[in-house]
Amino acid sequence: MDNTLQDIKDKLNIADVISGYIQIKKAGANFRALCPFHNEKTPSLNISPQKQIWHCFGCGEGGDIFGFVMRYENVEFKDALKILAQKAGVSLPEYRPQNPAEQSEKELLSRINNFASRFYHEILIKDKRGAPALEYLKNRGLTDGTIKQWQIGYAPDDFHSLEQALAKKKVSAADLVKAGVSAKNERGQIYDRFRGRVTFPIFNYFGEVVGFSARILIDDGKSAPNRPSASGAGQAKYVNSPETLIYNKSKILFGLNFAKESIRKADEAVIVEGQMDCIAPHQADFKNVVATSGTALTEQQLMMLGRLTKNLKFCFDTDTAGRAASRRAGELALKHGFRIKVIELKNVKDPDELVRRSPNLWQKAVSEAVWFLDYYINLAESSFLPGSVEQKHYLSREVLPLLGFISDPLEQDHYILQMARRFGISEKVIRQEIRPAQVAVQTAIHPQSSGNLLLEKEVLGGMLLLTEFSERAKTEISPEDFEHNETKQLFMNVLTNVDSSRDALAKEAVFMVESQLDELGGNKPALLRELFKALALLKISGLKKRQNQLQTEIKMAEMAKNQAKIEELNRLFAQVSSEKMKFEAML
Ligand code: CTP
Ligand code: MN
Repeated sequence: MDNTLQDIKDKLNIADVISGYIQIKKAGANFRALCPFHNEKTPSLNISPQKQIWHCFGCGEGGDIFGFVMRYENVEFKDALKILAQKAGVSLPEYRPQNPAEQSEKELLSRINNFASRFYHEILIKDKRGAPALEYLKNRGLTDGTIKQWQIGYAPDDFHSLEQALAKKKVSAADLVKAGVSAKNERGQIYDRFRGRVTFPIFNYFGEVVGFSARILIDDGKSAPNRPSASGAGQAKYVNSPETLIYNKSKILFGLNFAKESIRKADEAVIVEGQMDCIAPHQADFKNVVATSGTALTEQQLMMLGRLTKNLKFCFDTDTAGRAASRRAGELALKHGFRIKVIELKNVKDPDELVRRSPNLWQKAVSEAVWFLDYYINLAESSFLPGSVEQKHYLSREVLPLLGFISDPLEQDHYILQMARRFGISEKVIRQEIRPAQVAVQTAIHPQSSGNLLLEKEVLGGMLLLTEFSERAKTEISPEDFEHNETKQLFMNVLTNVDSSRDALAKEAVFMVESQLDELGGNKPALLRELFKALALLKISGLKKRQNQLQTEIKMAEMAKNQAKIEELNRLFAQVSSEKMKFEAML
């Protein structure tokens, strides 16, 4: 495996890999780009083709091509490996276990689901049991190409058909339950979960089947919408796979495997509720559409989308549930810095219906989408008597909180003025009302997740590169000053003179400081000053934390009226404070 990794690295140039995702610009021997992992206006992502690493001075992230793909595509190492091996034209050593027990459970569950999807698809298109379902789908306007692309199938109305087919492949019924395609009743009997239903495979980001959503053929209108059914019982309109080792509902967006390229290209994603609402636009060549499968949009789903675009258009059903889902999703997405519009559906209940009426109508509705906030402001105007108390209540309850989510001050001002004008409210009152919400948002948009990572790396890079800095740093800094395990470990290696020249983090840290030196025109004294500043900041941050700790301890000692303890803690506090002042003087 080690050889394969090196082979992939040798075949790919880091600049080519990264430029496949974002725009990069040549800057001397290196490349520069706007960092995709945090919001910024001036480029602070540095890429070194020579060292084959990247590093961002803004957020402190960095690593090799695998790290970049993992971060950007939001995937685990083994998936980044798959993606890059494909790009490099390197075939990964195929893992072919002799004995089923050797397979990892995830692989087994994935194989079962992928088999099931082919099994149901074959029945739909070739078997006479699938004929009514095929006719149903054709009546709903789906083409053969669409049915094939989405691997739509039919699960026969039989309790054991899938189970028997897989038994021939030596797959146990218990594993079918783990894969979610079978269910077990109270008496311990195992049976196929999907029966007499059209099956829509649920694909993960890479197009592997991880579960199913299965629809009854005849909708008598009595089935409860959006209610997950109890294990196949009753006549729920949809029966879905349960969560399994490979299927985490909050991390999957239906259709994303087919939509990701278009979303990136269009720099916009359309989000709908149902499978058919997603498939219908795709068939009409609007491919930047994904579905939530009737559940609330989650933070993880937003993170996946956020890697592709920051522009979302919601097109949920026109019923009460759809409107509520849209509102919730919008608030969450606003908090995470997305720009959101709402696609309004007139005279139809969902996107599928509109596309079927005419793809042009769909296109028109998408292009006429209104800003999320305007949508609610318009509602205030159309649903209430102008100037009524009810209208003001609605505004303060439903609209003002949204204003607080707008991070651009000019845009926020635009809305404040507009609302004051349109509804005759005083600007001052609006401004007073939105302040609290805004504070909450800013912490949400700018999470302090990486903490001091950047400083830690900078100090380490300085220590590895310059002995004169290293000597001083060794006397000032201790392992506890590092918040992150990897940086702490590297620091201890440096302290104990362990060779770290092959360590990826060490390489990155050195690269970071070398680029800094480049930037300073090779001025070493200036670099040293910067490094000492970083050292001081790192110390100050740690000392501040220590002060907070001590303060809490002092309060507790005061409550316990423990005079001796109070005095000792105060002495410590004064010590920490004076040490902190010493470092503050270095800034
Ligand atoms: N859903 C579900 N369980 C139900 C009903 C719905 O999981 N009992 C999910 C399905 O993913 C469905 C989505 O919620 O696609 C939207 O539900 P609904 O609007 O009722 O169905 P449609 O998508 O309109 O389905 P169809 O057009 O086939 O009637
Ligand atoms: Mn529908």
